[in-house]
Amino acid sequence: MRTTTIAEPLRTFIERIPKAELHLHLEGGAMYPTTALNLAKRNGMTLPFFDEASAEDYYRFSGLDEFIEILRATVATLNTAADYQTVTEVIGEAAAKQNIWYHELFFTFGLVSPRGVSWQAIIEGITAGRRTNRERFGVETRFIADIDRTTDADTGLKMVELVAACSNETGIVGIGLDCQEAGYPPGRHKAGFMRAKELGLHRVAHAGEDGGPTSVWEALKELDVERVDHGVQAIEDPELVKYLAKQQIPLTVCPISNIELKVFPQMSAHPLPALIEAGCLVTINSDDPPMFDTDMTHDLFAITETFGFDVAQIERFARNSFQATFMSNEEKTLYLSRFDAEVSALKQELFGVA
Ligand code: ADE
Ligand code: ZN
Repeated sequence: MRTTTIAEPLRTFIERIPKAELHLHLEGGAMYPTTALNLAKRNGMTLPFFDEASAEDYYRFSGLDEFIEILRATVATLNTAADYQTVTEVIGEAAAKQNIWYHELFFTFGLVSPRGVSWQAIIEGITAGRRTNRERFGVETRFIADIDRTTDADTGLKMVELVAACSNETGIVGIGLDCQEAGYPPGRHKAGFMRAKELGLHRVAHAGEDGGPTSVWEALKELDVERVDHGVQAIEDPELVKYLAKQQIPLTVCPISNIELKVFPQMSAHPLPALIEAGCLVTINSDDPPMFDTDMTHDLFAITETFGFDVAQIERFARNSFQATFMSNEEKTLYLSRFDAEVSALKQELFGVA
């Protein structure tokens, strides 16, 4: 894992502050070299790496398109309900270590369905996995079913109907859109998103990672999304930034992912401070942590190192995430009051002031 130069007590504050994570993929988010190699062995296949060092070499990307190609190859290790249970629990355990109380994980049926993996196997595995996460790790896991945007509209719509047929026990709260963005504008999946709206499902989309501000506008206008995943290229269009800020549409920003996928050349060029300055509701997330050698805590370290964020700003990022979840209002009130009490106690302990 990358190291940090953040000094105490800020470092401990970042490590221990209660967290909610809203942009983390079940597949790429669990592909730690050892997990991926174990899954490969279980499924009688090989991967183009054999240990931590060779995985590090393999996990280098020229941009989003190459990343998704490598992701598709790596997730060939996911086939059965047991595999899906494993990855859900691997992410639950990593969450507990970071004091992540609640997360909404994306899973993308289109990444595995071409190989014949069944929807039922996924649902069985993730339902069992979220039970373990709650009981063993004290982490509340919910899911967002993402449409692989490179598939056609009908495939997207069919996935929405599959989601609608799931029981509450599965914990799916909404639908999203991911994979290669350039060449696949959000409006292609309007039918699926409108059906999801009719069914009362929440809606998000990856946009403005590789498709520019027009992709964000289209996700907002055509898909009626309630949060934008990434959204960072909105910075190229001041009217869009104003709109996002005015409507307080949460952005699930993944700073280290953006650097690893060459959205920006280095962290100092990231528009995060400008988005905050403009009044956008920003949350910080890790996207596919093992593939970017990060986790939510290290994303917070990295932006704090580069931009010199203070305790109040870290607290704002963390609180924004709870605010932007798709929990019910009653649950959100409970989580937020617990959050406020824990953060006050933590500040008292570390800084001598609540
Ligand atoms: N799937 C996993 N990570 C992704 C990302 N950053 N963008 C689009 N699709 C993804
Ligand atoms: Zn993502």
